[in-house]
Amino acid sequence: MNLISKTSDLSKIKASTLIKFCAQDGPKNDPSLKILDKCIGGAIRKIFEWSEFEGKLNQTSVLYPASSILVDKIILVGLGEREKINDDSYRQAAGTISRLLPVKKSKSLAFFFDLHDDSSTAQAVAEGFLLGRFDMTDYKSNDKKNSNMNESVCFYSANKAGTSAIEKGMKRGQIIANSVISARRLAFHPGNVITPITFAEEAKSISRKNRLKIRVLDEKQIKKEKMNALLAVAQGSDRPPRFVMLEYRKGKADQKPVVLIGKGITFDSGGISLKPPLDMDEMKGDMTGGAIVLATMMAISQLKIPLNVVGIIPLAENMPSGKALHPGDIIKSRKGKTIEIINTDAEGRLILADALDFANKYKPQAVIDIATLTGAALYVLGYAAAPILGNNKQLMDAIRAASEKSAEKVWEMPLWDEYRELVKSSIADLKNSGGKSAGTITAAAFLENFIGNWPWAHIDIAYVDLEKNGKPYIPKGASGFGVRLLIELLSNWKEIRK
Ligand code: BES
Ligand code: MN
Ligand code: ZN
Repeated sequence: MNLISKTSDLSKIKASTLIKFCAQDGPKNDPSLKILDKCIGGAIRKIFEWSEFEGKLNQTSVLYPASSILVDKIILVGLGEREKINDDSYRQAAGTISRLLPVKKSKSLAFFFDLHDDSSTAQAVAEGFLLGRFDMTDYKSNDKKNSNMNESVCFYSANKAGTSAIEKGMKRGQIIANSVISARRLAFHPGNVITPITFAEEAKSISRKNRLKIRVLDEKQIKKEKMNALLAVAQGSDRPPRFVMLEYRKGKADQKPVVLIGKGITFDSGGISLKPPLDMDEMKGDMTGGAIVLATMMAISQLKIPLNVVGIIPLAENMPSGKALHPGDIIKSRKGKTIEIINTDAEGRLILADALDFANKYKPQAVIDIATLTGAALYVLGYAAAPILGNNKQLMDAIRAASEKSAEKVWEMPLWDEYRELVKSSIADLKNSGGKSAGTITAAAFLENFIGNWPWAHIDIAYVDLEKNGKPYIPKGASGFGVRLLIELLSNWKEIRK
């Protein structure tokens, strides 16, 4: 479905349903809400007076006006207190109405933007609306009952200048939402559908459509690259590993690339250190970091961001078998450092170790990895935010700024020597588990051993990758957390000089 934009006075909009965002102070400080109220004989003032609708964030009210206006329905949606309204208020409000039955049943929808609304408001509305109505129905044989009837969705503004700003944000929001959805879909698909091979095929198809350069290494080529840590994880599975490299070059020829690395475990059983059965099905989503990198590459290409960016996705399945890695095994990583395997369930950091070392080939300006890496992330920040760690203040500040703008929350954890000690092995250079304490940090302390001399940041998305209850623009299931954050980061990128 395509979003379109038009210029029109509020009272002349023709559509099945008109959507109007409202602050908590009602019509008195909102000229267009006053006009709308007049058109329908004062009903809006009344519902505010009766406190049936107060404009609280995500509150909605559906009005069915008599003939004097050109729409069948008016939906008011609250933004909350005027002083607290930001882009995410609009994103949430748009997500909330996207799933209302009166919205789904409307052939044509009209969003009206006020003169003070700008392109970032429109972007937020497009994102919220498209992300909120997303529904994974691929595996439902017949679920047409409540299917969406929207044929057109139009963003209206009262004057030409407004419309051009609104259109710009709307288009950007649509590109971003669609890339988040592509990440959600990959994460939703089960482990019998998305395997290292089919993930790599999907990456090829997305690259073709978005003019990204792609190379995929098979098992033999991975061996040739000495990525033994990746091979060690994959060796227990009948499904062979893959190593995906994506390239987007729209920066100056001599500009060093930003490298993104995403964990691509297409199913994590834990291996011989087998996970308990409860919620093991959720481990089909252990390739979400990889899906986010792929979706981000797709978006930056469509947004024509003037940068050089490389995406790296190591892909494997972590399974127990007669060929599987044992606890106690010692392997030699691509970098040459030896690793004692304490727990075969700490597999993500193994495949990332080789990918981080491989990144040196690109002489990166900075490297950011994103991974569903540690269950311990739940005990650090819960479901509210993703822990981040890194070695460069400018990079961490830029990530924090992108986080505030995208409302995908992150918080920095410290990387101190006390944690580095915990991943040293008595028999090899490193061990792949630091034990129970500070699991999120020790995982990052392990990864740090494999980086080159460049700024690096690590984003642990375990738990924020999955929405348990459903939020205004994140329906239950895979959230796609990280795509909007990374797009925002790359959109405002300032060269990092180290
Ligand atoms: N993929 C998991 C982390 C995870 C757990 C993500 C739950 C989302 C929800 C990762 O591979 C893992 O198993 N990590 C272990 C590491 C431990 C053995 C050192 C963990 O967190 O328990
Ligand atoms: Mn694991
Ligand atoms: Zn894992």
